[in-house]
Amino acid sequence: MKRRDFLITAGASFFAGGVSSLGLSAIGAPISSTTNLKLQHTNFLFREQPTNKLVSLSQNAPPPVIYGLQDQPMKLNVINGLDEYTAMHWHGLRIPNKMDGVPYLTQLPIAGGETFNYEFTPPDAGTYWYHPHCMTMTQMVSGLTGVMVIKEKIECGFNSEEIINLRDFRLNNSDQLKQPYTLRGAARAGTFGNVMTANWLKSPVYNHQAGSLVRLRLANTDTTRIYSLYLTSTEGQIIAWDGHPTEHQILMPTEKQPLLLGPGQRVDIACKMPPLEGQTINIIAKVRANKKLMASLLSIGQDQKRSLKELKPLPKNPVTEPDLKNAKTHEIIFGWSPEGTEPNNGFCGSLGKTFWSINRTPWPGDNSENTSPVATLKLGNSYLLRLRNSSPNLHPIHLHGLVFKPLRSNKRKVLPNWTDTFLLLKNEVVDIALVADNPGDWAFHCHVIEHQKTGLSGYIRVV
Ligand code: C2O
Ligand code: CU
Ligand code: CU
Repeated sequence: MKRRDFLITAGASFFAGGVSSLGLSAIGAPISSTTNLKLQHTNFLFREQPTNKLVSLSQNAPPPVIYGLQDQPMKLNVINGLDEYTAMHWHGLRIPNKMDGVPYLTQLPIAGGETFNYEFTPPDAGTYWYHPHCMTMTQMVSGLTGVMVIKEKIECGFNSEEIINLRDFRLNNSDQLKQPYTLRGAARAGTFGNVMTANWLKSPVYNHQAGSLVRLRLANTDTTRIYSLYLTSTEGQIIAWDGHPTEHQILMPTEKQPLLLGPGQRVDIACKMPPLEGQTINIIAKVRANKKLMASLLSIGQDQKRSLKELKPLPKNPVTEPDLKNAKTHEIIFGWSPEGTEPNNGFCGSLGKTFWSINRTPWPGDNSENTSPVATLKLGNSYLLRLRNSSPNLHPIHLHGLVFKPLRSNKRKVLPNWTDTFLLLKNEVVDIALVADNPGDWAFHCHVIEHQKTGLSGYIRVV
């Protein structure tokens, strides 16, 4: 698959056309405001033998990058070509609840052969992603996680961009998918893959003009791994976090101080390419004592002599500042489930065990009458949520439909940048603030899918 070639084409016509609000980086796919996304099984060559029974939206290729434009309507027809249920979620987008893709909470699951038309207008620009929210374990582990880019209405001055979807696959000796989870993992830090990929590839190399400015969009779409990342160049700047322009500067990661990117989180980095042809910027993941080359950007051609100072700052997204003086507090505890909790259905299907809970209440089952909200917030009001991790494991806590600002932590300095997924450290207590400005029942869960499926899920109601 010549992903590189296609991305350039898609990007070019996207900008040249001006009228298209949506592009799709699958080979030959037209650029239009309506796109069909068909779930299908496929094969892919990760190692020696093709891995079968992957789930994607095209043949022999990872799920495409979906492009939209801020404030422009998008229509995504999700066609379920599998013989199991699904529902598609657009992670980080602040869109109407009905389009959020959470089975039973916002829509009925899409049966095999059925289509669901998602229609929404993204209010925010930035790097987002998509994944099924029904059969999350099976379908996400089998490959169905893709990046979504919502373009700003202005050009900020980059020469090019690179999108890196980080995720692992768990393969056996014959290169086939292993059982996606272990009960041991589900009760602890999760079950890890053994093939770490960027855009399903092992250490891909992407060409960019020497001395040019590249917007690097990194997304961790893995079901388990917290990536510990750094670049081999510090000539860059973090410009956005979880889609939103950073208002408080996050330092460029280094080998000594790598950036922790939990499942679900994204970071945008403005990079200046090295001046000489053949030089690279390597994206490295630290895995215990080892360093893993995830991908690299290779300088080609003549030095463009660009400077990071030439970039226009990203325009702010229209997020409302919480009114902290009048914010009511809710305390929310993430931890073990009480002894003897019966296993329940969590987002279409159960792992047969319950290990986790929110406020000591595990997800009571998709269809359950007892599924009451973790908190009920009044539309338009500001809130402070105190998130308490009463476990030794890390939890990337994600809230749908709203964004929030971390204010303080008992463990470290946190920066109040807008976010939709907060990586809660061991025994950490963090205060986050938000304005409940999007009505509906919003899923609220850990993005380690084994935790999500074994109880660490709930929802927040905004009325
Ligand atoms: Cu990225 Cu509830 O999901
Ligand atoms: Cu989400
Ligand atoms: Cu968790």
